[in-house]
Amino acid sequence: MDKNVREREFVELMRELLESDQVRMMGRWRHHGPVTTLDHSLFVAYNAYRMARWFGMDALAAARGGLLHDLYLYDSKDKSAHPGNQCFDHPRFAARNAEKITALSPKERNIILSHMWPLGGALPRSKEAWLVDLVDTVCAGLELTRAYRPHRLRERLGVRPLAAAAT
Ligand SMILES: [Fe+2]
Ligand SMILES: [Fe+2]
Repeated sequence: MDKNVREREFVELMRELLESDQVRMMGRWRHHGPVTTLDHSLFVAYNAYRMARWFGMDALAAARGGLLHDLYLYDSKDKSAHPGNQCFDHPRFAARNAEKITALSPKERNIILSHMWPLGGALPRSKEAWLVDLVDTVCAGLELTRAYRPHRLRERLGVRPLAAAAT
């Protein structure tokens, strides 16, 4: 299928989440090097969606879990923003924030909570959770080595980060 058609299909499926302030707010913080949490999450979500479709998996759960897996909404370098180790803390913050904006299925919740496995968090309990865990690792590697700049994908998808409120 044409790449643009697939991207439009993804945007339609995710429209409500992509328009939410909380998801767009992820653009305020850097996650891997210069890559924002929003750009990283879109990169993971879109690729998990495509691969889930390709393998006949639950593409909606993979896309939603991928988009929300890092919805922790704080600066990861700010030690006062979370109680312990970022590796263990951020999936739980992400799941809690995600539940405030959408009703998560048990599978989607586990995708978020297990995405750091085996470094921390829950064990992946579905094919889609294993997929997002793997895609997250590959995307992080591409971002950290600067092999891919996911802001281009975000711009093609038409997602605008939410600017920080003026103080
Ligand atoms: Fe993460
Ligand atoms: Fe991630």
